[in-house]
Amino acid sequence: MSQDFEPQILAFCCKYCAYAAADLAGSMRLNYPPNIKVIQVPCTGRVDIIFLLRAIEEGADGVYVAGCLEGECHFVGGNLRARKRVNYVKKTLAELGIEPERVEMFNLSSAMGPRFAEIAIEMTDRIKKLGPTPVCRLAG
Ligand code: FES
Repeated sequence: MSQDFEPQILAFCCKYCAYAAADLAGSMRLNYPPNIKVIQVPCTGRVDIIFLLRAIEEGADGVYVAGCLEGECHFVGGNLRARKRVNYVKKTLAELGIEPERVEMFNLSSAMGPRFAEIAIEMTDRIKKLGPTPVCRLAG
């Protein structure tokens, strides 16, 4: 695999926690890979299965959802619904022959700027090891 592979990774981040943690990471001048494109959502319960599948279909190498800690979702169980959806998408990808590890769910609080940076690094490393998305190869 090319050493130059720079994965495209989408992160759906809840505005109350992960998005705020991303801001904090920035304020703390923590370095994390530029491969992560953050999409703010009002709650991870808003992230539908179709958003995740569409991201993969459109060529994202990885996608993750980052929501509030369990028990701390501002909309009660949005993050629990998100986790179920992520697990469903993982199963669907596996059935299609695509590595389920390309999709993940994380929970963190707004005070966890360093954890936000860690997650970004962890996902970038993981996707670099997996290599580019096979979706274009499968479609072609
Ligand atoms: Fe953050 Fe629901 S409000 S995951």
